[in-house]
Amino acid sequence: MSPASAKTQDSDIRAVDGWMIHEFAEVTSTNSLAAHLPPWTAVRALVQTAGRGRTGRRWVSDENGLWLSAVLPTPGTSATWSLLPLAAGWAALNVVRDLGLPDARLRWPNDILVGRRKLAGILVDRFSAEAAVVGFGLNVANHPEITDRALAGAVTCLADLLPEVPPISELVVRLLSALTREHQRLESGDASGLCSELNGAWRHRQVQVTLAGDHGAIEGRLDGVDPAGALLVRDAVGDVRVLPAPNVELLREIFPSPDVIL
Ligand code: BTN
Repeated sequence: MSPASAKTQDSDIRAVDGWMIHEFAEVTSTNSLAAHLPPWTAVRALVQTAGRGRTGRRWVSDENGLWLSAVLPTPGTSATWSLLPLAAGWAALNVVRDLGLPDARLRWPNDILVGRRKLAGILVDRFSAEAAVVGFGLNVANHPEITDRALAGAVTCLADLLPEVPPISELVVRLLSALTREHQRLESGDASGLCSELNGAWRHRQVQVTLAGDHGAIEGRLDGVDPAGALLVRDAVGDVRVLPAPNVELLREIFPSPDVIL
């Protein structure tokens, strides 16, 4: 298929909670397809043949996962829209926790992990100044590690964590509703409310941040984010480094080494 194409014979449209949801059997990438759609439209596919992850990586999108993109309006020049990737992560985390996974957690900027395994990822594309496409990839009952052996041990899915998993169509509605709430919060300019909730959730982890453009790496304790969405990392001498999101190429969590039993 060409970029952003879909097998339209399998498409269906339904209206839920202010959203028009287009459902396809197979697309290249729901984010790419959503680029041409108006705000409050969402695209869901059973399978993506060219799913995209952050930093140009591919995203394995096999059957029985949730692959969803939502187009949100981002009117005006408010700086709070730069927090949308974080807000989307917070929305998705709350949906996952409410399913019965209170220990699910965020890894900056918006990966959702259980323990050290990735359950969901989010890709936010800004194809224009007026709108953003928020793409959710949530492993539900799929096994991406079968397609890509390198993912073995690094991913998980809801079906492996919960006794019962709601239908994907219900998860889609829960995600879109949570996203609408976070969008309203940003629209009202309440960046600090979002940041304080986020910071309560992920601060104090030890991290290594690789800076974009060959600027090396910083190791330290994650102090959270500031209201502009910049990462705050306290380095070894106690100085807080303020790292705007575009300057960060990669954040790795550092786990304490296992206790040595003598
Ligand atoms: C990441 O963690 O790297 C982000 C993964 C985002 C994947 C989703 S699946 C739906 C949407 N369409 C895409 O091509 N990517 C996002």
